[in-house]
Amino acid sequence: MIRPLIAGNWKMNGTSAMLPVVQEVVTGLSARADGADCLICPPATLLERAAKVAQASALAIGAQDCHAKEAGAHTGDLSAEMIADAGGRYVIVGHSERRADHFESSEIVANKAAAAKRAGITPIICVGETLEEREAGRTLEIISDQLAESIPDAVCDGSFVVAYEPVWAIGTGKVATTEQVDEVHNAIRDKLNQRFADAGASVRILYGGSMKPDNAAGLLSLQNVNGGLIGGASLKAADFLAIYDAGI
Ligand code: G3P
Repeated sequence: MIRPLIAGNWKMNGTSAMLPVVQEVVTGLSARADGADCLICPPATLLERAAKVAQASALAIGAQDCHAKEAGAHTGDLSAEMIADAGGRYVIVGHSERRADHFESSEIVANKAAAAKRAGITPIICVGETLEEREAGRTLEIISDQLAESIPDAVCDGSFVVAYEPVWAIGTGKVATTEQVDEVHNAIRDKLNQRFADAGASVRILYGGSMKPDNAAGLLSLQNVNGGLIGGASLKAADFLAIYDAGI
């Protein structure tokens, strides 16, 4: 049994007024069985303060992106080392919104994941198809290519997480069916096993895309769904903890 990870991606949402949500989740976790790992990735401006709130608790804090380099002339960017220094323990890389908005190729994503490994934090490597690609019957081909090109050899020991996020389900309320999720997650597991052998068998595969308290249990009950990467529903502690409860 792989220990689940319930992760919140706040995206570009949250000022200091949102820090009490972190405290609410910390308090909520302290009253629950330790059945899963729990993570919140706030905007970078809140990372260090959120990490201080979550210090010595069951909640981890992470970032939503990092640069591949350790330091240098990269205006506006953050290195994985800076994220670790601020108390971050995970970093999301290759989210479809960044692949689209920032033209991030899978090669760039792989370099970011390798940077996370270099800094001693865990990359959550995102893959997912567009609606057009799904409707063209290319989903498994797209996912296979993204996995092959986005996961660097540096994490061959299994020190990474994969998040399957069908682009057409993100922020739309159109959650993928359990049949669709089961098919893709099983295919991802097969690819991880083929490339990384035993290490691949222990890598957590999260589902992301309109996961909510009312659909989480069905999704999280699937064999190769080892947690969730939650956007909108992670902004409210009660909803996020309800999904945690469904995952343990
Ligand atoms: O990274 C998680 C995110 O893409 C899912 O967003 O709002 O559909 O849960 P949402």
